Amino acid sequence: MGTSTPLAVVSGGAGGIGGAVCAALSRDGHRVVALGRDPSRLARLARPVEGRVCDVTDEAAVAAAVAEIAAHEPISVLVNSAGTAESAPLHRTTLEAWNTHFAVNATSAFLLTRAVLPAMRERDHGRVVFIASTAAHAGTPYTAAYTASKHAMLGLARTVAAEVAGTGVTSNAVCPAFVRSPMTERSVRRIAERTGRGPEDAERALAEAAPLGRLVAPDEVAAAVSYLASGAAACVNGQSLVLDGGGIQQ
Ligand SMILES: NC(=O)c1ccc[n+]([C@@H]2O[C@H](COP(=O)([O-])OP(=O)(O)OC[C@H]3O[C@@H](n4cnc5c(N)ncnc54)[C@H](OP(=O)(O)O)[C@@H]3O)[C@@H](O)[C@H]2O)c1
Repeated sequence: MGTSTPLAVVSGGAGGIGGAVCAALSRDGHRVVALGRDPSRLARLARPVEGRVCDVTDEAAVAAAVAEIAAHEPISVLVNSAGTAESAPLHRTTLEAWNTHFAVNATSAFLLTRAVLPAMRERDHGRVVFIASTAAHAGTPYTAAYTASKHAMLGLARTVAAEVAGTGVTSNAVCPAFVRSPMTERSVRRIAERTGRGPEDAERALAEAAPLGRLVAPDEVAAAVSYLASGAAACVNGQSLVLDGGGIQQ
């Protein structure tokens, strides 16, 4: 490892969780590059976090972004936080929705991790953190595409961990229950529209889905990522850190 500022790349870095992760890694002393599709959202990121447009479901775009970002310094930390979530009962889940969930939630993490891992292994140092979900551990109604894609993401995290075991590289997942973020705000709006409940009622239903009984704060997810990305977590590999207040059996 060199002595220069370590470099972290965060997919979905302009999102609710990704933004908190970028800020935490920046405070921890990393140079942080956030990846996203929307340039205006990336431009709103607080400095010194840098934004780079990249559709992380696009193989060529991911390869180009990683080559450019890692051209002058190696990537020490990759956080896979890009994600999408829609809900529907299985019989109304379209193939398009299924494919989109897999592309954004699982394939993007595969493409990015595959792109950064060889250099991490060569340097014998690296941290890969996957923002999965409690949906990576359990099935709930109306979430087939999301839940299956998050199970796939956790499977990828565990497989990478098995491949890097015993090296200076680690691969772990963070699995929060509902987090206070734009993704959850969209879910609350959809539930309110479909059920006629008020937004507060709809939010309470999501919060009560986990033993925690409230939404997880983005900073609580970021703190877990910060730990897993740190030197202190060198012996932690292949784990899924569930943030739901207790209850998920792993
Ligand atoms: N919110 C929750 O309750 C919750 C709970 C557990 C796990 N998670 C997971 O945590 C992660 C972050 O969620 P969040 O709550 O922060 O959601 P969010 O605020 O909606 O952020 C998601 C981010 O993903 C980016 N993204 C989506 N598709 C992309 C693509 N093809 N290429 C590049 N970036 C893309 C979006 O940026 P652009 O639109 O600019 O591309 C957006 O910034 C997701 O994987 C989610 O499944 C969320």
